[in-house]
Amino acid sequence: PRTAAVIPAAGRGLRLGPGAPKALRTLNGTPMLVHAVRAMAASNAVSLVVVVAPPDETAAVKSLLSDLVLPDRTEVAVVPGGANRQQSVRLGLDALPEDIGIVLVHDAARPLVPVDTVDAVVEAVRDGASAVVPALPLADTVKEVEPRPGGPEPVLSTPERARLRAVQTPQGFDRETLIRAHGTVADDGEGATDCAGLVERLGERVVVVPGHEEAFKVTRPLDLVLAEAVLARRRA
Ligand code: CTP
Ligand code: MG
Repeated sequence: PRTAAVIPAAGRGLRLGPGAPKALRTLNGTPMLVHAVRAMAASNAVSLVVVVAPPDETAAVKSLLSDLVLPDRTEVAVVPGGANRQQSVRLGLDALPEDIGIVLVHDAARPLVPVDTVDAVVEAVRDGASAVVPALPLADTVKEVEPRPGGPEPVLSTPERARLRAVQTPQGFDRETLIRAHGTVADDGEGATDCAGLVERLGERVVVVPGHEEAFKVTRPLDLVLAEAVLARRRA
């Protein structure tokens, strides 16, 4: 079966501060989305990339990506996104042709994921896992709190750090499992921030494979500095 990558890229990037939608902000001159599409197309397994664009930027994203030189095996499609990540992913899934058997879902906001990580996720799905997430151990200790904007916030618990993983993308799924998860779990308004969580809510098994430091999510302004430094180091 063929493998597709769905790239939710419809977010505004509010935590990055004022400017273009996050996926269109540049890293060393190239839009983050272009880096992310290239990262997916770098995998021999991926034959289709579905980009879920900010609704008012769909035409601009189409023209941006039509100029892109990608391996011959890789088709690109662009569809308009929704109000939260869960909705955007769902709109991307609706655009998949019948012959796609494995689906990767990859944040445009993780433009620098290495191809080895992408391949490891695909491999784990091919080996029989229905839901696979790349993840890393945490450096920080994590506390669960009673949220109180402005604080101080009472601490409720401290989960054992060694058992925690920070989850990245691409997350890989057997197509049927992912579609069923998105069709079954209702959007609570905020929407789910990762697809594997929807699969967990169906009571199905999700497995973790090693992630990569360079698959970090560009979220705040400091992340732009790090991403541009990583790119500069790659070119050196
Ligand atoms: N995303 C999306 N559609 C939305 C919201 C988010 O496709 N309505 C995508 C983003 O474009 C991003 C990924 O989901 O690639 C992860 O979301 P996040 O890092 O939170 O990006 P933003 O929502 O754009 O950023 P912020 O939360 O700071 O506004
Ligand atoms: Mg967001």
